[in-house]
Amino acid sequence: MLAILVSNAKGGCGKTTLATTLASAYAVGGFKVALADADPQQSALAWCERRPADKPRVRALDWGKRIAKVPKGTDRLIIDAPAAIGVARFKTLLKMADAVLLPVLPSAFDRGATGRFISHIESVKPIRKNRKPLGVVANMVRPGTRAGRRLMAFLDDLDYPPVATLRARTLYPELAEDGLGLFDRGDKAAKILQAEWTPLVTFIETLGADLS
Ligand SMILES: Nc1ncnc2c1ncn2[C@@H]1O[C@H](COP(=O)(O)OP(=O)(O)OP(=O)(O)O)[C@@H](O)[C@H]1O
Ligand SMILES: [Mg+2]
Repeated sequence: MLAILVSNAKGGCGKTTLATTLASAYAVGGFKVALADADPQQSALAWCERRPADKPRVRALDWGKRIAKVPKGTDRLIIDAPAAIGVARFKTLLKMADAVLLPVLPSAFDRGATGRFISHIESVKPIRKNRKPLGVVANMVRPGTRAGRRLMAFLDDLDYPPVATLRARTLYPELAEDGLGLFDRGDKAAKILQAEWTPLVTFIETLGADLS
């Protein structure tokens, strides 16, 4: 099993969007997928409930209070962490994961909070020693904007160039509304956006190759 923790202390940066899109992408790809919601807001659990029964299954795990057992045979576990997470809780969730994905938005507020979060989690040994790789995802980037360029410069300075850059698209909230993800769709508009996720999936799957 490969397990991915999606985390950033900053609220609203796209953790649940990343978690649900990845979970459904793997389900569509034929993997047995579990999505663990460690956020008391339960957005990922609610998304699982909205997911149509005829779509590839994503098993929902409620980790709001405690870490529940992962179903036998799970190929990919995606963990959606809460905002305002402290180092202690991060460490607990990290024990269950092979790597961390950290979405970040372009704004100055988001960059500031993310810089602080990264410096906090770098005190955690598996992150510092890169035993559990940290992949930053630049999210809701508008190409050609100053905010987008600032975000790239900021991540370069931190030595975490993004493993993927995702554009801002209303399709994401629209799909989430129906318990769907980008990879449930086969139309041209979805396919164009799916290409942005390829480096992210490669980052995760390379990890799998390294572990085996
Ligand atoms: N790439 C994107 N394009 C457009 N909208 C996006 C994108 N990523 C996320 N969003 C939207 O931004 C909002 C916040 O995203 P999301 O809920 O995934 O963030 P979060 O980090 O899980 O928030 P919280 O900290 O509250 O758990 C949602 O309405 C989501 O649909
Ligand atoms: Mg969330």
